[in-house]
Amino acid sequence: MVQYNFHFVKRTMAVARTVAARAVGLLSSTQRNLAALAPAGASVASAAAFPGAAGSHPPSALPQPATATAFAAAAGGRRGLAGVVVHRPSPTNTAETPFDFSDENYAKIDTILARYPSNYRASGVIPLLDLAQRQAGGWLPLSAMNKVAKVLGMAPVKVYEVATFYTMFVREPIGKYHIQVCGTTPCMLRGARDIVAAATDEAGCALGATSEDGLFHVTEVECLGACVNAPMAQISSTTADPYVEDLTPDSMREVIRALRAGKDIRVGPQTERPGCAGPQGKTSLLGDVPGPYCRDLKAEG
Ligand code: FES
Repeated sequence: MVQYNFHFVKRTMAVARTVAARAVGLLSSTQRNLAALAPAGASVASAAAFPGAAGSHPPSALPQPATATAFAAAAGGRRGLAGVVVHRPSPTNTAETPFDFSDENYAKIDTILARYPSNYRASGVIPLLDLAQRQAGGWLPLSAMNKVAKVLGMAPVKVYEVATFYTMFVREPIGKYHIQVCGTTPCMLRGARDIVAAATDEAGCALGATSEDGLFHVTEVECLGACVNAPMAQISSTTADPYVEDLTPDSMREVIRALRAGKDIRVGPQTERPGCAGPQGKTSLLGDVPGPYCRDLKAEG
């Protein structure tokens, strides 16, 4: 019995030593990961810079700068589609900037919110942000996001999270036409970079910037779901968001020239291609579907 207990204690201590050694290894590997994630010049050894890396709680996998400035620095100065990832108050964009929905839009809000159970009003955040953006002239002042939060009974930060995640929402004034060129793989393989170059050159602005005449703002976005007509772009304004598809650099320029001249643009493929048909044209679903049917839809009316 004594011998058995001796072996038990010995094995327990060996396990404890292994666990301790692994914990030390895990800690140093976490520190290495933090070092890799940290902005240039930052010290991961500094608990002030990365509070999650010290103390008794598990260290955070991401740097957690304490201030907005530090966050922007951690993002490497990365700009979102319509500004930096932090809010920068300007004379026309503060919490006090006047904004309230029009009577017409309040009626639309009633219609939108009727689609959701009364305890899920927050589900209407995207359509309400869209309404607010269109009413505000194509961008979302801070006060408009706060109004959406108030109408929906949400914490304002929850609304900011949505508005900063989706590229269709912009938080600084931009041009009249927001030209969003898809740069995801199918479009990129079909020449999206040439489309971006043509769009910025013709519009007279850099990528992510607004043209001097205030007409155009060009950004690159992720897949817009029209990959079969790649490359493509969406052109948003306060009234419509048409897709222009099967673009070439020349057709992209033509679209921008037409917008500048106040003319209607051709929506969809900018070639003679019908819809998204392949080179052989339409090859399936040419007539009535032959069945078998699981239900007699005609009999049911
Ligand atoms: S990849 Fe461009 S629309 Fe899908």
